[in-house]
Amino acid sequence: MADLERLKEEAARRAVTLVRSGMRVGLGTGSTAKYAILAIGERVASGDLRDIVGVATSDASEALARQLGIPVEPLDPRPLDLAIDGADEIDPGLNLIKGLGGALLREKLTEVQARRLVIIADHTKVVTRLGEKAPLPVEIARFGFLSTIERLRGLVPGGRLRQPGAQPYVTDNGNYIYDAQLPQSFDPATLERQLKGTLGVVETGFFLGMAELAFVAAPEGVRELG
Ligand code: 5RP
Repeated sequence: MADLERLKEEAARRAVTLVRSGMRVGLGTGSTAKYAILAIGERVASGDLRDIVGVATSDASEALARQLGIPVEPLDPRPLDLAIDGADEIDPGLNLIKGLGGALLREKLTEVQARRLVIIADHTKVVTRLGEKAPLPVEIARFGFLSTIERLRGLVPGGRLRQPGAQPYVTDNGNYIYDAQLPQSFDPATLERQLKGTLGVVETGFFLGMAELAFVAAPEGVRELG
């Protein structure tokens, strides 16, 4: 565990070398993205980075960035120079599953506007096909969620409402998450279209064709994919 944390930090630090003064930067969410925000904060504090603006993909990332003195602005239609974020799975084409941390909607809204989306991860996130290890998080409206889940089961039979305790998990946007178990064989683009066309679905954790580069840290060093 401690080793994985060190690897996440190594990947994050490599990505943060791409941040330059004056940039608008998308700040990801999760335990790996946290290391990137910490590294950006260090560079801001030392005066190495000036006039940067962060656009946060979750309330937690926004709070951390502000605490570190990184100016944060809401997402507006201007492009972002760079976004740095973690992922739950990375396939050989840099297609991703994201959202186990629950921030997939804000992540997708933010990262689609980034000129470059750079992914940071430890080696356990690399897969040969999406769905190999992780479920696909699907953000759904709370209203009528049981009906939405029934519709979703027609497309992806396995899966369950994310419910860590007595109550369902609620996203920063006030929605629920259905964690879908993907079948052995499927076409991600087709399934993405079908899921997005399902009443009650707000967004899915498929990030297809969005990432340009990934820094993947393994015990033998950091690999660049893409
Ligand atoms: C949050 C995400 C995270 O980037 C993803 O879950 C990876 O998290 P971690 O770095 O903690 O493994 O998509 O919605």
